[in-house]
Amino acid sequence: MNILVTGAAGYVGSVCAAELVKQRHHVVAYDDLRAGHRQAVVDRVHFVKGDIADTERLKRVCKQHQIEAVMHFAGDILVGESVRNPRLVYRNNVCGTLSLLEVLAELKIRRLIFSSSAAVYGEPKSVPIQEDHPTSPINPYGETKLVIERALTWYYRAYGINSAALRYFNAAGATGDLGEDHRPETHLVPRVLAAALDPDLSFEIYGDDYPTPDGTCIRDYVHVLDIAQAHILALHSLSKRGVSIYNVGHGKGYSIRAVVKAAEDIAGHRLDIRVGERRPGDPAVLVASARKLKRELKWEPRNSDLKNIIRSAWVWMRKHPKGYRK
Ligand SMILES: NC(=O)c1ccc[n+]([C@@H]2O[C@H](COP(=O)([O-])OP(=O)(O)OC[C@H]3O[C@@H](n4cnc5c(N)ncnc54)[C@H](O)[C@@H]3O)[C@@H](O)[C@H]2O)c1
Repeated sequence: MNILVTGAAGYVGSVCAAELVKQRHHVVAYDDLRAGHRQAVVDRVHFVKGDIADTERLKRVCKQHQIEAVMHFAGDILVGESVRNPRLVYRNNVCGTLSLLEVLAELKIRRLIFSSSAAVYGEPKSVPIQEDHPTSPINPYGETKLVIERALTWYYRAYGINSAALRYFNAAGATGDLGEDHRPETHLVPRVLAAALDPDLSFEIYGDDYPTPDGTCIRDYVHVLDIAQAHILALHSLSKRGVSIYNVGHGKGYSIRAVVKAAEDIAGHRLDIRVGERRPGDPAVLVASARKLKRELKWEPRNSDLKNIIRSAWVWMRKHPKGYRK
């Protein structure tokens, strides 16, 4: 298939694009590099620098490469920034995605995989969280993902665009050449490992008085390769299915202290840990039910064992201590 991957110079998109070329798809990466890295786009992927808001450019690229399916990763991901400055995340995640959907509708491209997020659920009422759990985002970032999920139903009915919205929990881990390099980095695994790599850095735990066994928050970490696999399975299941929603999580939760301990084990030394205040809006436990994805698409989180996640991210970070920077 000829597949357009938006946000393919970013963390999850780059891994997914690399997996798609391994399966002999023709992959076009479309990314304006506002947060991504050109070096993260592997050789056999055709790279185009462009903004998803540029509808005419997108249309030309899709026509030129006879695009048949789109995986849409591009978007703003910083939750705190979305609270401080919602107009930016609305413009990029909502207006930008509508620009992309415009192109799909006009060119009759009827397959789309959308990167949604567990942030659509907000404070969970029950865990593990199933897809039919009420959606009630507690920040603009989660709200933008939900707005698009809802639009997808109408775009299916009106224009026949089949889609799958994948609600990832915490993407983590690395492959041989591709890893996580966000600036600023707000994700736990690379932050803990950065502290393991640099003795001058300490690591702050945001609160240890939660109602969990060790008092720290529990989260669900899923290896980026398993997320890529979920995309590929969802793509193959798409035609004539309308709109599907799947959680992408390991289905197991680990506390922050458990992640720190795993990082200490792999690094072979103790970290300088400080315990700070709770962050507003951090639920005590966020764990996915991954049953639907396993049952319907036969997905298995083969790489998402915590040790494997930490080991792969550690290997990548040691090779790339400055991330993708030379
Ligand atoms: N990483 C996670 O744990 C996680 C969890 C849930 C959902 N998601 C979603 O998955 C997607 C990918 O996340 P990620 O961690 O790889 O993020 P990332 O920031 O590493 O990648 C996003 C990419 O999109 C590009 N981009 C952003 N706006 C663009 C625009 N207007 N036009 C063209 N390119 C643009 C950036 O340059 C970047 O390369 C995002 O949509 C995110 O909301 C990620």
